[in-house]
This record gives sequence, C-alpha cells and structure tokens, in this order.
Amino acid sequence: MRNIVLLPGDGLGPEVVGEAAKVIGWFNDNFDTKIKPEQGDIGGGSYDKHGTPLSDETLDKCRKADAILLGAVGGPKWDKVDYKLRPEAGLLKLRKELDLFANLRPAKVFDALIDASTLKPEVVKGLDILIVRELTGGVYFGEPRGIETLPDGTRKGVNTQVYTTAEIIRVARVAFELARKRNKKVTSCEKANVMESGKLWREEVTALHDKEYKDVELSHMYADNCAMQLLRNPSQFDVIVTDNLFGDILSDEASMLTGSLGMLPSASLGAEKADGKRAAVYEPIHGSAPDIAGKNIANPLATILSVAMMLRYSFNLFKEADLLEAAVESVLAKGYRTADIMPTDGGKGCQKLSTSSMGETLVKELDALKPKMAARA
Ligand code: IPM
Ligand code: MG
Repeated sequence: MRNIVLLPGDGLGPEVVGEAAKVIGWFNDNFDTKIKPEQGDIGGGSYDKHGTPLSDETLDKCRKADAILLGAVGGPKWDKVDYKLRPEAGLLKLRKELDLFANLRPAKVFDALIDASTLKPEVVKGLDILIVRELTGGVYFGEPRGIETLPDGTRKGVNTQVYTTAEIIRVARVAFELARKRNKKVTSCEKANVMESGKLWREEVTALHDKEYKDVELSHMYADNCAMQLLRNPSQFDVIVTDNLFGDILSDEASMLTGSLGMLPSASLGAEKADGKRAAVYEPIHGSAPDIAGKNIANPLATILSVAMMLRYSFNLFKEADLLEAAVESVLAKGYRTADIMPTDGGKGCQKLSTSSMGETLVKELDALKPKMAARA
C-alpha cells in the first residue's frame, strides 16, 4: 500500500486537489498503484479550525506518509494574521520539518499551448527547462529576522540571507544528477557580484562540479541576468539551480513562458533515506488564487501533472506517469481548455471547460489511451 496525504488547503486548492483525487482513483482502478489517500488540513483553513496553519496531527500524518499532494495556501482573509500563524507559515513549516530542500519546478511548453504564451512561438517552441530551487534555507529562514522599532520611533525590518557549504552542495548535487538524465547542462544562479552568500554558492557549486560532475556542462549566471535571459532566449537553459528566493521568482517567470501558471507542477524532495524512500510534497506552483476560488473555473492540470511527478519520483511508476502526461497532452491537443489557457482570440476549435469537466475529460482520455499504451509496451 502506498499511503499519501492530500492537503487541499485554501482558495482553489480543494477544487484542483479534488480533480487530482479522481485521477488517482482511476489509476487505482486500472493499475496496481494501490495509492491510499487520507486528508489533512493546512493553511488558513487549518488556522480557522485549529488555531495553527499546520497542526502536530497533520505534520505527524505527513511524516508517516509515502508522499503528500498539496493544493495551495493563503488568501486575503488571513492578511492581518501574525507571520508565524499565516497560512504560508504552515507550508514553510512543512518544508522545513520534512527537510524538503530540493524543489523541482519544470517548465515545459506543450505544443498545443504555444499560442497561450505571451512570447513569440519561435522563442518558446519545444521549451523544456527544469528549475531546481533550494527550499529550506536562505532568506526565507535566516536569522535574525523581524521588525524592530528604532529609538527615533521609525522601524527597521530585517531578514538574513544565509547558506552553508552543506546546504549548497546537497541541492547542487540534485541538479547535476537530474541534468545527467536530461541535456547535461546546469546553470547556477546567484548574485556573487554583491552577496557573500552568492560568492560561496558559486565556489561550492564549482568545487562539486570539478570533483564529481565534469561530464555536465556548468555555467554561472547572475540572477538578474537569468531573469532577462529567460525572456530573451529561454532555450539556452536545461537545468537551473538557484537559492530559495531567486528560485521563487525565476520559477514564476519561467512558468509564464509556458502560457499559464495553471500548468506547472512541482516536487519538493528530501534526502534519500536508508530504505531508498524520501519525503516528498507535490504541488502546483500557482498558489491559492482567491479571486477565482470556488467558481469551478480553475485549471486542475498543474495538480494533475504533480500527480505524474509523484508517480515518477516517489513510486517509480514510470509507465503510469508517462500515460498521465500523455493524457494531458492529448486533451490539450484536442482543444480542451480551462479559462486561463483559452486563446485570447476566442479560440477557434477550442472548448472551454470548467475545473470539474477538465478532470472528467482527462479521466476519459486515460480510458482511451490505456489500451494504446498497453499495445505499445
Ligand atoms: C511558492 C510560493 C510560496 C513561496 C509561498 C506561498 C510561501 O510562492 O511555493 O513559490 O514563496 O515559496
Ligand atoms: Mg512562489
């Protein structure tokens, strides 16, 4: 049995996780996946119910699980809540407690969605890059932090960017290993021109590369230049490895190359344990989008693609992961769209679907593709 925890969270989280749960159910009915989901609370909903965005009970469930599928956290309702109790704090605590230091954010352009990108088709066609974001260090967690009042009554806000050799090396290793299975290119991004932590980052990544990963091509780029290059010529990248804050920003930017934030999955992984397992949270990168929550119009595909990542990275179910990704590609090719990926010209040949009908359409596509896949195997 594979035990997973579903953490739908806030905003559109419950809607998109609901569709992903249908997909998981389909795999259980059609393959030997044996995935047993259980539910948990996280974020603002958890704060309202239990007074904390991540209760010990949920955390305990997550520690025991083989994988976690998360929707999204946050919303304006909790804007006034103290940072320590904000919905986002629940997510950050989950990342920290499970030591999920490697955040994989692939940005892949589906041929059918080329027109949804704001960039020219020739710039984004065939694009397939992977951002590996450090997730448990840097300015998100550095001490000291806080807001203090100065003697003259004005205030000072402080956050600290901090990285150690060990933190840099373990995430760089993940990037090099993944690059080996792709196009063998890693671009490491920091601001070594202005930050000591960036200088250290560059030196440690270089040392690891020279010692163990000479077969991978390594280049370094300042993060601001990387932001620019992502728009100018994104195809130059294969794997980008970067810190927590730059990774947060660059991955949002990279997602828009693909046309919509609503399409991008992610995996946050911990270190491999003695039994070969690793803690893992899978989630769409789009966030809770309170403006469209509860309207049955959100795009569930990023969450569904996160399930594909779960099948692949946590359960080694490669055939099933391929099938799921093929089904997503196929519904898009047939012109099915949620509102966020509808072409701006009205979309000739495209049909606009709600969240739930996209989920249902995808399950039907899985039914249709399964025999073809079996025939090929
Ligand atoms: C993300 C989000 C989070 C982050 C927020 C919700 C805390 O933007 O996963 O990219 O900043 O890491
Ligand atoms: Mg973000």
